[in-house]
Amino acid sequence: MTNKKRIFSGIQPSGNLHIGNYLGAIANWIKLQDEFESIFCVVDLHAITVPQDPETLRKKTLEIAKIYLAAGIDPKKSAIFIQSQVSEHAELCWILNTIVKMSELEKMTQFKDKTQAGVSEGIGVGLFDYPVLMAADILLYGTEVVPVGEDQKQHVELARDLAKRFNHKFGETFIVPKAFIKEEGMRVMGLDDPTKKMSKSATSEYNYISLTDDAETVKRKIKKAVTDSGSEIVFSDDKPALKNLINIYASFSGKTPKEIEALYVGRGYGDFKTELAQVINNFLTPFQEKLAAITDEDALEILRAGAEKVRPLAKAKLAEVKKKVGFIS
Ligand code: TYM
Repeated sequence: MTNKKRIFSGIQPSGNLHIGNYLGAIANWIKLQDEFESIFCVVDLHAITVPQDPETLRKKTLEIAKIYLAAGIDPKKSAIFIQSQVSEHAELCWILNTIVKMSELEKMTQFKDKTQAGVSEGIGVGLFDYPVLMAADILLYGTEVVPVGEDQKQHVELARDLAKRFNHKFGETFIVPKAFIKEEGMRVMGLDDPTKKMSKSATSEYNYISLTDDAETVKRKIKKAVTDSGSEIVFSDDKPALKNLINIYASFSGKTPKEIEALYVGRGYGDFKTELAQVINNFLTPFQEKLAAITDEDALEILRAGAEKVRPLAKAKLAEVKKKVGFIS
């Protein structure tokens, strides 16, 4: 490992990865991997905070690793690994559990969303504790920058607070990380409801475009996407559905929203949607070809090598933490 600044990020192997995950996270990772020493994790410990079928979890874990690779994460530059293969994550989470407050976790919006307004009946403790595990992921590696979508900002804030609290209590130990959230793609909204983020756990498949959707499915889903009243293609806060579609168009085409508006003056939603589907497919088709060419064996080898590369870092930081809190080694 080098002395470049470090970035760490991860995705849960649950549900179908969608273009929101790509635009909010992976697309930025690819750009950052040259500048930073990069660690990208498949966070299976996080995935089991809601029930998972074991066989599906195994498949999805490999699929996420393959998606990282097909999208352009280069294993020569970046470490890719599975969270559960480095047990220090769970151990540090336990130690951080002793300095986090219940009230801090009760405030987490993602927890509130997942539990329907904070009703904890029937909810696993893991789901409640999820942000502390995420803080452990980040702090274990001396991470300086955490590239994520907007929905993870509050969790990164907690990691910052816990780093400062631990340092204050036990002496300088953790780097205080910063979230990196790029304006474009930071919050891709649902195609069926532009007031909610595009989500892998959405009940309707018309909410998202999966990274594995074929060209016809993309056309069908874009055709069905809700739009606002009127017929002009304008980028404005009063038209949240259209704004979301234009943002997606902009992210995949490299054009600005203004340029896209200009392209569609005097043309209606029909043309816009047909060409938006085309723009998305121009990205997805070659991406999916690369994805199909990566074998399970290749992915497993890269994941094992990734775990080997990061484990010494995790071990060293955890040893330092254990010493600071008073454990005998
Ligand atoms: P997860 O698996 O829900 O999402 C993975 C990444 O995708 C981003 N994202 C979005 N970005 C834009 N628009 C959307 N609609 C959208 N939906 C998801 C997320 O912001 C995220 O960057 N807790 C994390 C995983 C995690 C992690 C970490 C991240 C665990 N440990 C340490 C960074 C550092 C999560 O559940 O992401």
